[in-house]
Amino acid sequence: MKEYKVALLGCGKMVSALTLGWKDHVPFHHYTFTPSKTRAKDLAQKLEGTFVETLEQLPPCDIYLLGCKPQNVQELATDLKDKISKDAIIISVLAGVETKRLQELFGPSKVLRVMPNTPVLVGAGVNALYFSESFSTDEKTFFQKSFESFSMAKVFDQEEMIDVITGVSGSGPAYIFEFARILSEKLVSMGLERETALDMVIETFYGASKLMKESNDSPLELRNNVTSKKGVTHEALEVFKENQFESIVSKAIDAAFKRSVELSKS
Ligand SMILES: NC(=O)c1ccc[n+]([C@@H]2O[C@H](COP(=O)([O-])OP(=O)(O)OC[C@H]3O[C@@H](n4cnc5c(N)ncnc54)[C@H](OP(=O)(O)O)[C@@H]3O)[C@@H](O)[C@H]2O)c1
Repeated sequence: MKEYKVALLGCGKMVSALTLGWKDHVPFHHYTFTPSKTRAKDLAQKLEGTFVETLEQLPPCDIYLLGCKPQNVQELATDLKDKISKDAIIISVLAGVETKRLQELFGPSKVLRVMPNTPVLVGAGVNALYFSESFSTDEKTFFQKSFESFSMAKVFDQEEMIDVITGVSGSGPAYIFEFARILSEKLVSMGLERETALDMVIETFYGASKLMKESNDSPLELRNNVTSKKGVTHEALEVFKENQFESIVSKAIDAAFKRSVELSKS
């Protein structure tokens, strides 16, 4: 099988997680670049790839994986545009930067947008994929399988769905971590040792996620299984209801979606 040359432009948390995830499953040779060099050197070593000190040293690649922050993309494109062949493939993990803009900035028409989340670090991530029009079916299958080699990968036919999903699967781990933080702080305030409190909360989240994944019951049915009338859980859920927990969550997701759309228009 052909070995693809893949340029990693940015080697932060997300690109490291994705590439270390697919390292043993895909025929890629990685070239790593970051402005401050340190993270590029480290990642090249872990991937058995090649560190490049400057973009001038980057050889022509088949795939360019954009992993900088959205605000750095313009600068990166200015430095790179003339080096990228029109037949190359751009993969972007940048939140809120649309395919059309990436095509204008970098040149190639084949753009794969990916919205991953941080659990890819432990092989339990969610990747939302959107392919621009010019990919062949074989190419789409190849890339979907590459992402599925280490985490879930779902393909969406409409690019707008990436903005919708960003506020749930992309940002979602932060909501779970926040909920876990609040619950463990509460346990500490009620007398538990911090470490014990955190262990109990983490294991509760882990167990509930595993149960949701492995059971045929819906989240609603699983919730009802722990909720007896006038029981302990019922009391807590009533407080959620009185304080409009569902509406708070819905407003938060609307705000995340609005911000994702704003970023993609800016
Ligand atoms: N974190 C998440 O949960 C998450 C989820 C979904 C999508 N994303 C997207 O993933 C992207 C990266 O996020 P991250 O959390 O991995 O960020 P990060 O850890 O801060 O890494 C950003 C990387 O970009 C590099 N960089 C900065 N300017 C650059 C330039 N001009 N050219 C090439 N590389 C450049 C940085 O280089 P130095 O090492 O030299 O600083 C760093 O290696 C973002 O666009 C974000 O929207 C993140």
